Amino acid sequence: MQVTPRITTTDLLCLERGPGPCAAILFGASGDLARRKLLPALAALAGERRLLPEHFFLLGYGRTPLTDADFARQVTEACPGAAGQALAGRCFYQTGGYDDAAGHAALAARLAELELRFGTGGNRAFYLALPPELYAPVCERLAAAGLTTATPATGPWRRVVVEKPFGRDLRTADELDQRLARVLRPEQLYRIDHYLGKDTVQNILMLRFANRVFAPIWNRDSIDHVQITVAEEVGVGHRAGYFDATGVLRDMCQNHLLQLLALVAMDAPPRFDAAALEAEKLRLLDTLRPWTPARIAADLVRGQYGAGPAGAGYCTEPGVPADSATETYLAARLFVDDWRWAGVPFYLRTGKRLAKRVTEIALTLKPVPHSIFAPLNPEDLAPNVLVMRVQPDEGIELTIQAKRPGPKLCMSAMNLDVSYREAFKADPPDAYQRLLLDVMLGDQTLFLSGELVRRSWQFWQPVLDAWAAAGADGICPLQPYPAGSWGPPAAARLLADDGRRWRLGA
Ligand code: NDP
Ligand code: BG6
Repeated sequence: MQVTPRITTTDLLCLERGPGPCAAILFGASGDLARRKLLPALAALAGERRLLPEHFFLLGYGRTPLTDADFARQVTEACPGAAGQALAGRCFYQTGGYDDAAGHAALAARLAELELRFGTGGNRAFYLALPPELYAPVCERLAAAGLTTATPATGPWRRVVVEKPFGRDLRTADELDQRLARVLRPEQLYRIDHYLGKDTVQNILMLRFANRVFAPIWNRDSIDHVQITVAEEVGVGHRAGYFDATGVLRDMCQNHLLQLLALVAMDAPPRFDAAALEAEKLRLLDTLRPWTPARIAADLVRGQYGAGPAGAGYCTEPGVPADSATETYLAARLFVDDWRWAGVPFYLRTGKRLAKRVTEIALTLKPVPHSIFAPLNPEDLAPNVLVMRVQPDEGIELTIQAKRPGPKLCMSAMNLDVSYREAFKADPPDAYQRLLLDVMLGDQTLFLSGELVRRSWQFWQPVLDAWAAAGADGICPLQPYPAGSWGPPAAARLLADDGRRWRLGA
């Protein structure tokens, strides 16, 4: 579909503000997340987007012994081209341990020297791209060395970004939160869910609340059901150690999928800011139908990929125990018990080594109340489906019925399809660019509060408990699926039992 974006006064809001002078300190700078996501995001901000302040430097930190030149080379390898060069000139590295006072003292000295040289005024963003068990000890060490001490309003700012997973269940998330709260104030702590940094995820709110057209249908009167799919082609890759102890419920459902669900199902917040969004998301989490043993057995499907067209099975991946019972796939039928959504099923699924990489949210509307096109009944007409394509091929699609050229009563389904890339002649920036920028700007709108993380765990905790008590296999038997397929047949049955089918795949 051809779309010409009109330049309107609201485009003024597109002006991107860059942060003031500051330093970024990257813990775990030698790691995978740093190399694949964080360094390229910083390079893009330094290069074509010109959004890093003039007074800025990046200091990598970790146990791997690297010189400044080694780290700069790592940066240019991770980010080829002019953007990487632009960043590499402002990159430094400090070798040191994570729970080691001497290392943090050396870090403090290095920071002081670089801050003077680059005129960053003591403003610091610490990014902990580290295994989760290190979040608390590192924050405590930073605080003990005085590196995160900040005087609100007057002094330089000190912020700390922690990656996911934030705990591995309700209890450990609470414990982590309490430890961090002893050394950091809430406005200093940024809990990332990188899905919230994706343009297309932010667009869910724009679509819903910057347009009048969708609001009247966004409820049980018009919507038959909602499907949220986060399908990955990749397998466990090199992250077997982390993933096998985690599984997709903890890795994807507790955070990314629940956030997508919240954005789709919540009510309109009064403002687009962190507190207002959080309040609506918390209300939404409150309305989710709690898990009972009967529902866990009936409304959840756990799967694990075996050998298939896309390659080896999970249990033969490097680093995975041959008898692993970790789920690489989960499908769930959820209900939001409130006036807006009563009775509307929300089907969620996510998995690794599926047929196609696609993240989308599809709202299927109810049939028309009466068909004037006899002999067709309302159910004979394909329903309208509104699809928000989060990635790849980001866009929006609406399936409608239309008159086809030919005989008088000749109808077929037609797609109104808008691709963001074509419409705006630009690729959406990587989520980490948005989130890193927001950390430096001090904007927590797209980050998670401790309470939100806690309530997300609280929602899934009965499932984790039931799996632990009965052995996950006892209550939710692990269903095999071939690598490269659309998941286990039992996930198709979850919808078939309701007279529905997944929009994509089986
Ligand atoms: P890595 O396994 O690559 O570890 C990052 C760095 O942590 C390492 O380079 C290492 O640096 C240091 N480290 C300290 N202790 C250990 C240890 N016991 N085992 C391994 N490394 C250690 O992790 P990622 O970069 O993949 O992930 C970092 C964080 O980001 C994690 O919390 C992860 O869950 C999260 N995350 C990662 C994603 C990804 O795609 N990679 C996606 C979303 C979240 P050194 O040896 O130099 O000290
Ligand atoms: C991460 C998970 O949070 O998200 C990974 O830990 C997963 O297992 C990744 O692959 C998916 O992110 P994206 O942006 O590629 O959809």
